[in-house]
Order: sequence, then C-alpha cells, then structure tokens
Amino acid sequence: MNNKKVGIIGVGNVGSTLAFNLASKNICSEIVLKDVRENIVKAMALDISQSAHAANSLTNVTAAINADEFSDCDVVVITAGVARKPGMSRDDLLLINAKIMTSVINDTIKYNPNAIIIIVSNPLDAMVYTALKASKWPRNKIIGMAGILDSSRMAHFIFEKLAYGQGQIKASVMGGHGDDMVPLPNFSTVNGLALTEVLSNDDIEDIVNKTKNGGAQIVKLLETGSAYYAPAYSTSLMVEAILEDKKEVYPCAIMLEGEYGYDNIVAGVPIMLGKNGVEKVIELNLEDNQKEQFNKSINSVQELVDTLEKNLF
Ligand code: 2OP
Repeated sequence: MNNKKVGIIGVGNVGSTLAFNLASKNICSEIVLKDVRENIVKAMALDISQSAHAANSLTNVTAAINADEFSDCDVVVITAGVARKPGMSRDDLLLINAKIMTSVINDTIKYNPNAIIIIVSNPLDAMVYTALKASKWPRNKIIGMAGILDSSRMAHFIFEKLAYGQGQIKASVMGGHGDDMVPLPNFSTVNGLALTEVLSNDDIEDIVNKTKNGGAQIVKLLETGSAYYAPAYSTSLMVEAILEDKKEVYPCAIMLEGEYGYDNIVAGVPIMLGKNGVEKVIELNLEDNQKEQFNKSINSVQELVDTLEKNLF
C-alpha cells in the first residue's frame, strides 16, 4: 500500500459516497473526513472504515474534529456548502457558499501545504475562483470537478437514444457547470465513431438539452437534495488520476490564463491531470457556434465572479 492520504471536507451525500468509493478501491492508505457536524463525521468514518475492512481494503478512514487533525493530505476534496434545493439555481448559493469556501480553504492550506485541492461545491466555477483567490495558490493546485460529471450525463443520454455502445461512449462537455455549459457532439464518440455518424441532428440536439438540464432533473425528482453518485464517482476519477500520476485527460474547471482567449476566469476545459494537478491545458479547435456558446458560458460565470469581487474580495 502506498503512503497516500486523501482528505474530504463535507460528508454529505457526495463526500460520504466519495469516501466509500475510494476506501473500497484501496488506492490510498488513509482517508480523513471533516465536517462541521461532529457526530455525523465520526459515524461516517466508522461506517466507511468498517466497509473498507469488509472489502479487505488497506485504507484507514478517520474523522478529524480539530483543524490540525486534518493535515498532510496529498489530495483534499472540498464538498462543503449548502446544497441546491428545488427551484434554487446554482447561483443562488453563491455568497453563502463562497463564505464557507473561504473559511474552509484557509484551514486547508495551512495544514495541507502540499495538497492538490479538488472543489466540488456549487456554484462550481465561482467556488474554484473563490478558493484560488482566498488561497493565492497557483492554478495547477486547485481544480473543479464538473466536466466529468456533465460528460457522464451526456454519455447516459446518448445511450438512451442509441440503446447500444454502453461502456464505449465518450462524451465531451466544456464551459461553466451551469445552464450554459457547452456539450460538444463533435468531440463525442462511440468507440471512435463521431456522434454525427450514428445519430440524427434532432437526436443530438435533444441530448445536448438533456445534458444541460441533467443536474436540475435529479434535483427536481429528489426534492430534498441533488445528485451524488455520479458526482462522487466523477470526483474519484480525479483523485485517482492525481494520486497515481496517471496523466489522464478530463474536462475540469480551472482558472484560464489566456487559453481560449480568456484570462482570470474559471471554466471547464480539457486538461491533463497528474500528480501536480493541472499538468497541461488542451485547447480544442472549436466551431464558431461553439465559441459563441463558450463565450456565453464564460459570461455567466463572470457575472458571479463580479458579485464575488464586489462582496468578498
Ligand atoms: C449537479 O449537477 C447540483 O451541480 C449539481 O448535480
């Protein structure tokens, strides 16, 4: 077993499902959980640690109560924040969660100077921006999880149309994690076959719309929360890529520094993910209409960032 330590802040549905998933996979020696709800985090640590023993995994799971007990992690995942309720947009959460993020990030960087930090809290892109500004860390070390989730939703909707190709569908989504996200049919394939070869334009348009609405669809059905299995699994892929220096390509929310013509704004783009976090940013040749959609998505994130700049920084 390696000597790797993963910290998870916020053990709601996403954080606890992620911890369970990582503990079962046996990919790190230690998982430490933190949450403002002390008994809940202790219960989660016990339950998930016991699940690891059932799985013959060597991962030890503990709860951190004081800030200094949550230390020396290689990867920290932050899911802390208020979840979306029905009728509430991701943006409604902005200022509440930005304040939580600022306080959480200050403790995290103090005790985990070498960590790569993955942000999951919503509104995602604005929370990555908040964490970067509050920490003053370089962009390679703080990355948002959304593109993998949105792409997995797109893959699901592609399969709904096709009824074949399960496990072979690679979908691609970029932009902000909001209603203006940019699903990319021309970069989505079924075992290498372009989507346009296997589906009609109407079907593709339907898939694009369903993908954009994928999170809200689950919020509406659940009534008291938002999705967690796909978000948690998507996050586990990022944790694994970093811990094992896999240098895998995933769409992730990062600070743009000139790529795609944007600067000082966070959005989802394809990157290479390894032990240093963002190892490389990949610039796709987008079609003109995709550039326009990406611009619209960036503008939506920019509105949130403007609100943050006025109120927080
Ligand atoms: C989701 O997409 C709510 O952002 C969350 O499921």
